[in-house]
Amino acid sequence: MIYSIVAIGDPVLKTKAKNLAPDLAPADLQQLIADMFETMYYAHGVGLAAPQIGKAVRLFVMDSGPMVEVDEEDREEGEVLEAPIKRAFINPVMVSETGEMWGFEEGCLSIPGVRELVNRNADIVLRYEDENRQVHEEAFSGMAARIIQHEYDHLEGVLFTDKLSAFKKQLLKGKLARISKGDVKHDYRMRFAGEGKRR
Ligand code: NI
Repeated sequence: MIYSIVAIGDPVLKTKAKNLAPDLAPADLQQLIADMFETMYYAHGVGLAAPQIGKAVRLFVMDSGPMVEVDEEDREEGEVLEAPIKRAFINPVMVSETGEMWGFEEGCLSIPGVRELVNRNADIVLRYEDENRQVHEEAFSGMAARIIQHEYDHLEGVLFTDKLSAFKKQLLKGKLARISKGDVKHDYRMRFAGEGKRR
């Protein structure tokens, strides 16, 4: 099932998400994860957090493939490519964020048409449960770390536009307000707080 993606302006995106209960039926969890992947691929995203489908729980999915795959002809001699990671992350805890800050133009399925440079640490360590509720503590870097940081922020009620300078925020204010009302082009199903409830 493909969910509608919640647009900026909905309070669920500003809510700190709650841990997923340990006794959630595995079949329900598998279905939710499968639906989130389906929704993410449908919208051509590389990450999707549960608040973006209106559920304030600590779960996100990611497939870094489209961001790290390089055409053979564009590949430089001896270049080390980042391995794509496709995974669901449950009840994640950011253990550390270290390394150099680097900038990248990020976008977000909840904020269609907006891309801005965001600086983040290069290396992270994340503790999380996988889709079988097994706990892992794992280091990530490169694009995978960035996507995880972006999705993790969603669980904390933070959007990438919250991390921009006051000046940038001021410039974007009108555009973001229009998006929240549904005045924006999008090629996947969305839900806008300004329009009332509908799926
Ligand atoms: Ni996002």
